[in-house]
Amino acid sequence: MITLGIESSCDETSIALLEDERIIRNKIFSQQEHSLFGGVVPEIASRAHLDKIDRLTISVLNEASIKIGDIDLISVTDSPGLAGALLVGISFALGIHTASGIPITGINHLEGHICSVFFEHPQLRYPFLALVVSGGHTAIYKIIATGQYECLGETVDDAAGEAFDKVGKLLGFAYPAGRAIEQTAASVENSSNPISFPIAQVSKIPGLNFSFSGLKTAVKYYTSSKDDAFILDNRPRICAAFQNAVIESLVNNLWKASEQTGISDVALVGGVACNGALRSALKNRFNNRVYFPIPSLCTDNAAMIALAGYYRNQNGLSRFPRLDPSSSL
Ligand code: KG4
Ligand code: ZN
Repeated sequence: MITLGIESSCDETSIALLEDERIIRNKIFSQQEHSLFGGVVPEIASRAHLDKIDRLTISVLNEASIKIGDIDLISVTDSPGLAGALLVGISFALGIHTASGIPITGINHLEGHICSVFFEHPQLRYPFLALVVSGGHTAIYKIIATGQYECLGETVDDAAGEAFDKVGKLLGFAYPAGRAIEQTAASVENSSNPISFPIAQVSKIPGLNFSFSGLKTAVKYYTSSKDDAFILDNRPRICAAFQNAVIESLVNNLWKASEQTGISDVALVGGVACNGALRSALKNRFNNRVYFPIPSLCTDNAAMIALAGYYRNQNGLSRFPRLDPSSSL
């Protein structure tokens, strides 16, 4: 079965083709325009998707020697995300569906991220816990079966990736800053005098929720009392302290979720799942029962959307795409 995946929820235009669960092509075009503004500008994102989406699709089909008529299912992200950006992908998908009669399904972007773990780990069995950590979301889900997810906790303010990007901006890194912060933190000598930033006190946040805005503010206060030369010299220590605090909060809550549910298999997905220090910390805590995609499948991509669509189709759970896309679930 051939599935065409379409992803345009934020600043990546991506088109993928799968044969069953195997990736034939997964092209991702990352919009660079936003780095000038230190974050994604919704209107620019919509226009850039519009400019790219048809040519990207044609090139994916040509490279794979697949014709529109060979496609069995169209799978498109329909929320959450930027409304205008999502509408570009949804309208494009509906155009192909209407003209060709090919079945279509809408996919929740987070469901796509969760399914991305199965590319590398098809042996992973339900139920498992998923820590979804991206620029837009930070949440722990109990994954019961295809399409059956229970949210156990989520951020009450910034997403973890958003905190990386905002702290990166304070430290003079380009957007998105997650990778640069990780690389800079890695250059810290173990012996050097560490800085300590507070992690949100979990007892003050209900359930298994997260909070990262206080941590970001702590970095802001710390840097505002220092001159530029000091900040530049101490960027590795600041990055390491910030990253450690984020990781501690993520690992602690996931551990609690595991204790509460009795589930010990954990999927780590979303852009922040690229972070090697987070991967190692989780592996240590969960005795290696942690599963994550390769980095190019952690960040936004259409292959994960196509796979989620394939699973929904196999389980009779396809649904018409939302025509009212929004940032909420
Ligand atoms: O999943 P994604 O591509 O987009 C959303 O759905 O939001 O995630 C992008 C986020 C950005 O905030 C980026 O800074 C972060 O993932 N990220 C990282 C790393 N690589 C990407 N954060 C920490 N460490 C990394 N190595
Ligand atoms: Zn995402």
